[in-house]
Amino acid sequence: MSFGYGVHQCLGQPLARMELQVAYPALLRRIPTLALATEVEPIPFKHDGFVYGAYELPVTW
Ligand code: HEM
Repeated sequence: MSFGYGVHQCLGQPLARMELQVAYPALLRRIPTLALATEVEPIPFKHDGFVYGAYELPVTW
């Protein structure tokens, strides 16, 4: 859903997926104590925008 759909779906999505496969493990390797600083329930999500996602994601480490 993040990459859109139809004729204008994101052309860079294979590259973005590869980058995230590198970036997420690297982030967790560098900061192994990284964790959500809240319960999932109160995290505000964008239901009204062009791109779906969280407005903010409080973390702790
Ligand atoms: C996590 C990273 C990314 C996300 C979430 C993302 C998301 C999106 C979204 C939502 C669209 C619009 C789809 C639509 O109009 O319906 C889009 C379009 C596009 N993206 Fe990405 N994108 C990402 C990374 C990239 C990268 C790395 C590149 C290129 C290196 C790229 C190139 C493009 C291009 C060229 C379009 C326009 C496609 C068109 O209008 O036909 N994107 N992207």
